[in-house]
Amino acid sequence: ESGKLWGGRFVGAVDPIMEKFNSSIAYDRHLWEVDVQGSKAYSRGLEKAGLLTKAEMDQILHGLDKVAEEWAQGTFKLSPNDEDIHTANERRLKELIGETAGKLHTGRSRNDQVVTDLRLWMRQNCSKLSTLLWELIRTMVDRAEAERDVLFPGYTHLQRAQPIRWSHWILSHAVALTRDSERLLEVQKRVNVLPLGSGAIAGNPLGVDRELLQAELNFGAITLNSMDATSERDFVAEFLFWASLCMTHLSRMAEDLILYGTKEFSFVQLSDAYSTGSSLMPQKKNPDSLELIRSKAGRVFGRCAGLLMTLKGLPSTYNKDLQEDKEAVFEVSDTMSAVLQVATGVISTLQIHRENMARALSPDMLATDLAYYLVRKGMPFRQAHEASGKAVFMAETKGVALNQLSLKELQTISPLFSGDVSHVWDYGHSVEQYAALGGTARASVDWQIGQVRALLRAQ
Ligand code: ARG
Repeated sequence: ESGKLWGGRFVGAVDPIMEKFNSSIAYDRHLWEVDVQGSKAYSRGLEKAGLLTKAEMDQILHGLDKVAEEWAQGTFKLSPNDEDIHTANERRLKELIGETAGKLHTGRSRNDQVVTDLRLWMRQNCSKLSTLLWELIRTMVDRAEAERDVLFPGYTHLQRAQPIRWSHWILSHAVALTRDSERLLEVQKRVNVLPLGSGAIAGNPLGVDRELLQAELNFGAITLNSMDATSERDFVAEFLFWASLCMTHLSRMAEDLILYGTKEFSFVQLSDAYSTGSSLMPQKKNPDSLELIRSKAGRVFGRCAGLLMTLKGLPSTYNKDLQEDKEAVFEVSDTMSAVLQVATGVISTLQIHRENMARALSPDMLATDLAYYLVRKGMPFRQAHEASGKAVFMAETKGVALNQLSLKELQTISPLFSGDVSHVWDYGHSVEQYAALGGTARASVDWQIGQVRALLRAQ
């Protein structure tokens, strides 16, 4: 006896190096709870199909509860032959209840078992991540609401572009995260499908009622094809892509904040709780939290690309390559959980320097508004753009700020300039022009806050 669940046809021993290479228990032990859950449902299916007596089922259910209890209390002892969580739990069940344990796996394969476990685990975990994501979004919206009268420069190409509300910047990132939440719901829908009852490849020959299994495990749907069910990992790839895109958003936000936190910008200051110092330079306070958020994005992308490469070119159906899916899921789930919580902490404790933000606004950022001034006087935009450009050039040549040009000087560019042009040189007035939905005017920012809050309430 090889001591393995699949030992029957084997004569020689497995090379210890191979044993270690093949083993997944070090990480798939995270599945202990869902593995027991799946097995309990399956034993109910076996009982209904007449493959277990009621007494046998009760014995198995009771034994499985004991197995779960041992895991929960940290007393479950792994044996060297436990190659994965499925073999470990079944081995222990047999020790606890004897030969009846050998009936549990009737018609089941680890191929349908493992993917059922993974889906159950991901279902739980996606809900947790969704909650964390919404906590971050809520923190951002609260901040946007409290600080919506703060103005600062908006950048394109990292060049000063137009004055915007600080809240408009916050919301630009929050809104991206709402799409991530929407996408996560889609992923959850496709995670929530029952593969159990597909066997190794061909299906279940013993009359197990998959609708009963679905109801027991509360799955939204049942997989349509047993070959597909045991070998597809689309739902894993989708989850990893979801995480990648969410990390793209968080990484970009982190990059903005790193920049805004430099002495050169001095718009924001990271709280000590999310910074670290230098072992050499006493003055340093480094934004490590944000840098790590930025860097974790790379790690998550790697897992996504890695899984796709694993899947590509696999022959039908289950291949051991698929064992690699779990480390990706666990690592990315842990990373997302940490990143979302750290980002929430960073945003809720960030200090802003309003005066520096205000000071960074410069009249050249109103050149577009100068053109709009002429547009409102009836000039076609292309001409107005040209005229405002000439004013910028004139100011530059004279070495003065754009708002220092006299009315006379402006009138050499266009006779449409008159005394009321002075209103253009007001940043508050400038942002209020952008009142169309989605713009940076106060009413529009309030509208955005309302929209995101409505999504929050719908959670
Ligand atoms: N540990 C395996 C995995 O994670 C379980 C399935 C193994 N199935 C098999 N036929 N070897 O994929």
